[in-house]
Amino acid sequence: MSNRIKILSMGAMGQRIDEALDARYDVYRDEASDLETILAEHGNQIVGLVTRGKNRTTDALMARLPNLQIISNFGVGYDSIDVVAAAKRGIVVTNTPNVLNDEMADFTVGLMLATIRRFPQADRFVRSGQWEQQIFPLGASLRGRKVGIAGMGRIGKVIAKRLDGFDVPISVFMRRPPADLPYPCHSSLKSLAAAVDVLIVVLPGGAETKNIVNAEILEALGPNGILINVARGSVVDEEALIEALQTGKIFAAGLDVFAREPHVPEALKQMENVVLLPHIGTATHHTRGLMAQLVIDNVISWFEGKGPLTPVAETPVPAHA
Ligand code: 8YV
Repeated sequence: MSNRIKILSMGAMGQRIDEALDARYDVYRDEASDLETILAEHGNQIVGLVTRGKNRTTDALMARLPNLQIISNFGVGYDSIDVVAAAKRGIVVTNTPNVLNDEMADFTVGLMLATIRRFPQADRFVRSGQWEQQIFPLGASLRGRKVGIAGMGRIGKVIAKRLDGFDVPISVFMRRPPADLPYPCHSSLKSLAAAVDVLIVVLPGGAETKNIVNAEILEALGPNGILINVARGSVVDEEALIEALQTGKIFAAGLDVFAREPHVPEALKQMENVVLLPHIGTATHHTRGLMAQLVIDNVISWFEGKGPLTPVAETPVPAHA
């Protein structure tokens, strides 16, 4: 057996990560062979895990990897990893913050405008030849709307900066706002939803935010309200959202994330007042390249004894052996 460091790679990580890992380590891929077989044959030797969060990294999985030191997540959101279990086991978890902030902010503003101005619907109108018969009906505008941002973390702040240029009042939902926050802040999501016409959700996924955008919040957003979700599907009660859209409790929605993606409920697909995207917020060569590099650099830095570059807050950074 080679004495190279053993890494488990979960999900399709892409060429850049694959090549960088292969050059340095022995890599076992659940995409290439059965995970159960990898765990049975190499579980004790595997010390690093890279994942893109498609499959959950549970306490039970960590138990099968008793010498695991680091989990390097491809993505800023790490709700697919049981970080409490990782912390208890002394495993450091890293993510890919900051390198995607600008991309996510550009994308979110784009989705907001596409939803309000119905770009996909108008595109379908042209392609289907309907323009030859009639003009596209007048629609809603961003003008006169108030925009609320739920989640003023790294990405939320850059979205707000972008929106500053759009001449719309911005307010935010934050439980512990900093003293110098330049926007009106609501300490409850319901109060923010009631105060705005566009609600942008950029909250992290996980137990704390599960279904936080529920029927009550959607009702508060109101019949003129537009929901933009670029965070996690789990943050929105999808059933309540479908009901709110079908009954006119809210006006429209732009969604990049879904509760059971890649499955998107048929009811949403049938609606004209929604824009549905396949979780592509960061899906550009530029930004995925930066994210991939950070996934690799965290692993390399750790196994060179220099510690993790971007550890998440929940896991300790144990002294490297
Ligand atoms: C990616 C994301 O789609 O960063 C995140 O949290 O959701 C996205 O950037 C995903 O992490 C890559 O699989």
